[in-house]
Amino acid sequence: MVKVHDKYFEPYLKEATIRARVGEIGAHISADYSDKKPLLIGILNGSFVFAADLFRSLTIDAEISFIKLASYKGTSTTGHVVTAIGLEEQLAGRHIIIVEDIIDTGKTLHSFLLEVHNRQAASVAIATFLTKPAALRYDVKADYCAFEIEDKFVVGYGLDYDGYGRNLPDLHMIREEG
Ligand code: XMP
Ligand code: MG
Repeated sequence: MVKVHDKYFEPYLKEATIRARVGEIGAHISADYSDKKPLLIGILNGSFVFAADLFRSLTIDAEISFIKLASYKGTSTTGHVVTAIGLEEQLAGRHIIIVEDIIDTGKTLHSFLLEVHNRQAASVAIATFLTKPAALRYDVKADYCAFEIEDKFVVGYGLDYDGYGRNLPDLHMIREEG
């Protein structure tokens, strides 16, 4: 049991379990993209641990870059804008694999996917460490997913609770009250 800020979290997925599963996904991607020289795009901050492990498990030529997505509550009726900050690579004609820590409602990725398509990528796939199927509200489907989990808050392996907990090697799930 660990305490992050005011909440308690219990180990949920051990480091060794995660390592083995990420290795499997790396093998799948290596097979699927053997002649495609994919460009992985990690979405900061949460994906940096998964992205580093996944990238090192690839046995093919591949590049990696990172972006940060900023959401704004604007005055427009859409109320939500996602901007890719710091993406310098040309996406046109490239095979893109977006690397995410977790797909919850799918809102973050839904907007970014449109942007990648608009930049004329040859193909776009999503590799996510986690999905919460019960929470999904947008039309976003992961092509590669390490683990499907319950709709409960998790920390560790890059994921944070208000900034802390990212450095926990095991994934931890919030402890139910009472
Ligand atoms: P959406 O709803 O856009 O959310 O798919 C994705 C982003 O929400 C954050 N998120 C979490 N972060 N533990 C976390 O540490 C969680 O259980 C969790 N659920 C969602 C995360 O930043 C993700 O990129
Ligand atoms: Mg995130």
